[in-house]
Formats: sequence, C-alpha cells, structure tokens
Amino acid sequence: MDMTQTLDTLFAEVTLLPVISIEREADILPLADALAAGGITTLEVTLRTPFGLPAIELLRRERPALQVGAGTVIDAAQFAAVERAGAHFVVTPGITDELLQLGLKSTIPLLPGIATASEILAGYRLGYRRFKVFPAQVLGGAALLKSFAGPFSDVRFCPTGGIGQQDIGEYLTLGNVMAVGGSWVVPKASIAAEDWAEVTRLSLAATSLAKGRG
Ligand code: 3PG
Repeated sequence: MDMTQTLDTLFAEVTLLPVISIEREADILPLADALAAGGITTLEVTLRTPFGLPAIELLRRERPALQVGAGTVIDAAQFAAVERAGAHFVVTPGITDELLQLGLKSTIPLLPGIATASEILAGYRLGYRRFKVFPAQVLGGAALLKSFAGPFSDVRFCPTGGIGQQDIGEYLTLGNVMAVGGSWVVPKASIAAEDWAEVTRLSLAATSLAKGRG
C-alpha cells in the first residue's frame, strides 16, 4: 500500500482529529478515554511537551483500539523517535526536504504541513497527495481549501490551527477535506481541572456534527 492509501485507510472513518499536548503524565489515559467516549478513534499527540513521546508509547500499549498520530515532528531525530514509539502516522507543522524524504522511506505515513501552493507542489512532485494545512484559519479557512481544489484536484487536506466547533460544518462540506484537526475539544483548563466530562461533551458535539457529513 502506498502512503496515500495508508492514510486514506487510517482516516476512512475519521472526520475529527484532536490535537493534544500532554502536560501531566497522569492525564494521558483519562484524556484518551474521555475522547473515545466522545466518538474519537484517532488522535494526534504533539511532541510540544516532554510527555508527548511517552504518551504515544503508553497509548499504543494500553489503548490498542486508538489510532495514535505523532504531531509537531520537526526533525529527523523526532521522526525516528515516534516511529520507535509506535505512532500510526506522523504530522509536521511544515515541510523540509529532510522531512519529506524521511516520509518516503518510513513504514508509517507522513501528513506534511503546508501553507501555500508552492509547498503543496514540493510534496506533490515526490508523490504526496495528503497534507495538513496549518494554520488553517489564519490562512483563509474553508475559502483557501476551495481555492486549492482547482489546481490540486487529487489532493485532500486536514486543516488545523485556530479551528473551533463553529467552523467545522463548513470544512466538512468540502470534498477535499479528509478530516478537521484541532485542540478545541481538549481545552487546557478542562484537562487541568480533570474535567473529562467536558472533553467528552465537546468531542461528542464535534463528532455528531461530523456524522451528518454528506
Ligand atoms: C496543530 O499543531 O495542529 C495546531 O496547533 C492545532 O491547532 P489549534 O491548537 O489552534 O487547534
């Protein structure tokens, strides 16, 4: 299976990709369970905190039903570390030649982050057809993705960055959106307060809207 097929298989039933940053080790499993109770099957754990890598390992071991991506991967050392940790896929905020080449060689698929048509082309010429768009809201939101559909008709995107519940309906009407990503379903304050019910409520609100996707 090539990388695009692997990503399409991983994301076949996925419309919402929570982007989580772990501040305390003890939060990892309850947070994942709260998301799962809200209909989440796939999430992205960022390497923005020291707990990112151990969180990926723990989730792969203790919650095998979840699909766990590694996010904010910015260099070769991190790429290798998340492969070893068992991540199902890798997400980067932007592209470098090094990251794109690593993605081609890896056994797990890469969703490279882009912000411009030129960056899409840099990946496209190497065979990439699925990208993260970051930071989506600042770049123009759904209007940007509609514009990309013209020149890049076989490309699909996962917009993230500044997206909230109020925005996802419009994204999900677009044929070139594979899933919508973001952290609005995992507010820092709710995690700090261990308010797992709130995480489940926000996830349910998003996944139930996404279910209506036609
Ligand atoms: C990401 O890396 O995908 C974003 O930081 C998530 O964006 P958000 O926190 O603005 O939702």
